[in-house]
Amino acid sequence: MSSTDDRAVQRILTEGREGEPDITLTAPRRGSVQAQIEEIFFEAFLRYFKNAEERRRWSIQKDIPWDKTSPNASDLTADIVQSFSAVEMYLPDYTHKIMELVRHSRGRAYFQSNWGYEESKHSIVLEEWLIRSGKRTEQEMRDFERQLLGEEWNLPFESPRQMIIYTTIQEMATGLNYTNLRRRAEEEGDEALSRTLRWVSSDESAHYNFFRKSVKAYLALEPAETVADIKFVFDHFSMPAHALIPNWEARGQQIEEAGIYGPRMYLAKIRKPILEDFGISREMLKNAGLPAAEADEIADRTEQSAEDARNGEKGRAYSLATHSSPSRGRLVSL
Ligand SMILES: [Fe+2]
Ligand SMILES: [Fe+2]
Repeated sequence: MSSTDDRAVQRILTEGREGEPDITLTAPRRGSVQAQIEEIFFEAFLRYFKNAEERRRWSIQKDIPWDKTSPNASDLTADIVQSFSAVEMYLPDYTHKIMELVRHSRGRAYFQSNWGYEESKHSIVLEEWLIRSGKRTEQEMRDFERQLLGEEWNLPFESPRQMIIYTTIQEMATGLNYTNLRRRAEEEGDEALSRTLRWVSSDESAHYNFFRKSVKAYLALEPAETVADIKFVFDHFSMPAHALIPNWEARGQQIEEAGIYGPRMYLAKIRKPILEDFGISREMLKNAGLPAAEADEIADRTEQSAEDARNGEKGRAYSLATHSSPSRGRLVSL
């Protein structure tokens, strides 16, 4: 795995936090665990929304240099763009089924509304590039869409906590897909596609950031249950809708052979960085199913980061002090 991959991973992990000011919540929170979690979700949503409105909105019409599609863009790139657009196309199922699950949580439900708006642009802009570049006709895209929506996506996990862990992993993986595809678009000199993927991956990074904060809230307040769910979800993770998309086996192979994403990347570029990013303890990592050596490696880095933060080398600490039991007494950075 190249250092370029590592930089791509790092960008997804951190870019979504830019512009969302970090705070330290020193005052103890009140109320039941559930009430505290909900309060954090809504606060995370407000920060996410403010940042999106102020810094991250983009226009399909105005912010893509559509006259700069490249005749050198390859058919393979077009195939991969279409595969990714197919995953985005199940948006009606993603939005309404997750909304049903989280409708009692204002933070998550409001986030879900905004998430749906942003994801709808991803589907549209990828399709726009396929048509404007001449790689597909409008009729071909309409036929493709009809074929896709003949199938229906269902929730892969049952509980809100498991689903938020799932979407954390999925957003990280999706961000990596687009960041790596963007590299290919740059090599082929397609500025329209490159800019498109820049905007899209920036959205995915912000989505990842909201979800990771939410998982951290669960980890702080329901640690044992959350670690068990992290293990369960990682053990059963697969990307959304692949089983529903025609010829996914061939499509997935194309994506992997192009060096964009594949099962081999999953452990090193998805699971490991996310677990490190959660900042959970050595014991929790082992409980989450990690081999001892890997857990120790991640825990060593996490402890070093915490030490650096304490020494003021990393000034940005948005943290949550929890207080209701000794096991919840950790300071968790969000
Ligand atoms: Fe997306
Ligand atoms: Fe996303």
